[in-house]
Amino acid sequence: MSADLPADLDGLRVVLGSGSLRDVPAEADRLGARRVLLVAGGSAAAHGDTVAALLGDRLAGRLTEVAQHVPVDLAERAVRLAEGVRADLVVTIGGGSATGLGKAVARETGLRIVAVPTTFSGSEATPIWGLTAGGRKTTGRDPRVRPTTVVYDPDLFRTLPATLAATSALNAFAHCVEGLYAPDATPRTDRWATAGVALLTGGLARAADRLPDLLVGGLHAGLVLGATTTGIHHKLAHVLGGTYRLPHADTHAVLLPHVVAANAPAAPQAMAAAARAMGRADHDVAGAIWDLGRDNGAPTSLHALGWPAAAVDDVVDAVLAAPPPNPHPVERPWLRALLLAAHRGDRPA
Ligand SMILES: NC(=O)c1ccc[n+]([C@@H]2O[C@H](COP(=O)([O-])OP(=O)(O)OC[C@H]3O[C@@H](n4cnc5c(N)ncnc54)[C@H](O)[C@@H]3O)[C@@H](O)[C@H]2O)c1
Repeated sequence: MSADLPADLDGLRVVLGSGSLRDVPAEADRLGARRVLLVAGGSAAAHGDTVAALLGDRLAGRLTEVAQHVPVDLAERAVRLAEGVRADLVVTIGGGSATGLGKAVARETGLRIVAVPTTFSGSEATPIWGLTAGGRKTTGRDPRVRPTTVVYDPDLFRTLPATLAATSALNAFAHCVEGLYAPDATPRTDRWATAGVALLTGGLARAADRLPDLLVGGLHAGLVLGATTTGIHHKLAHVLGGTYRLPHADTHAVLLPHVVAANAPAAPQAMAAAARAMGRADHDVAGAIWDLGRDNGAPTSLHALGWPAAAVDDVVDAVLAAPPPNPHPVERPWLRALLLAAHRGDRPA
């Protein structure tokens, strides 16, 4: 691994290294755990088997079903299992969906989490939880859901399909960009955000040896997300994901260039910082992000994700019911234009 961890990890314990999946039992021991609830399904099932075998009789229960945006019934089942087996620690292996399910358990039970990420979602570094019920996603912050320990094993990321790696990295990119114009941005969050933008740009622009930059970029993005208030980009991603079940990382990848283009006139300092971090003398942050997505095979339009333009006013209504803080005022014509541009997916002018 060549990219350096940030010096300021905001109190997170981070273990990073090839093969570190096998350190999970030692990390559980470190926290005094005797009864581990393991969350690992789908693409992480085999890693779950590895950790289960290493935990031996410290494994109290196992969940193999995970789903994006944490459906509330799944969360309730997970909490019941944690209580039923008297778990004293949750270990999650997987992308933001697995981490999110672990957070749902932690929120109800107060159990600590050891997170082993396999995407660049950054959820492992945030105190943000999310739950979906009846097509509506609710999110909130609770320090209890922030993982105590994060174990990054680069070997787990090698199976990420190239397109998912790109869209997941653009999800992380969005955390950094929104952090730069957040109302509560600080010099500390700006440092994480600009370092994250630089790492993610470098990783996405290279064909080979990109994993270290994307992985550490994703961590920076999670630190930013955990410490700042998000704007219209995240609001739209959650409304579109929760209501229309669009894939989370793809939705971020499509929206980001259009959100940046729409916000740029209202956030000149943030855009200048992003342009510097991306090495863009022309300051075309929106176009450069769109190029990174297209060059990496990411979807570029909401149309391609199956979202119908006819739903534009429903989404606008849902956003205007509780508009987020955002550098550009969140008004109906502006928001409609942004959504329709993302639906068409042309390179932002
Ligand atoms: N709370 C937070 O701070 C936060 C931050 C970011 C995302 N999220 C949430 O996380 C969810 C999305 O997370 P995600 O984008 O990581 O997707 P995900 O966890 O749903 O994974 C997407 C797909 O990729 C597969 N996958 C994951 N890692 C893989 C790997 N290494 N190799 C092969 N396949 C792999 C998964 O099995 C799944 O099919 C959403 O619900 C989102 O709201 C939360």
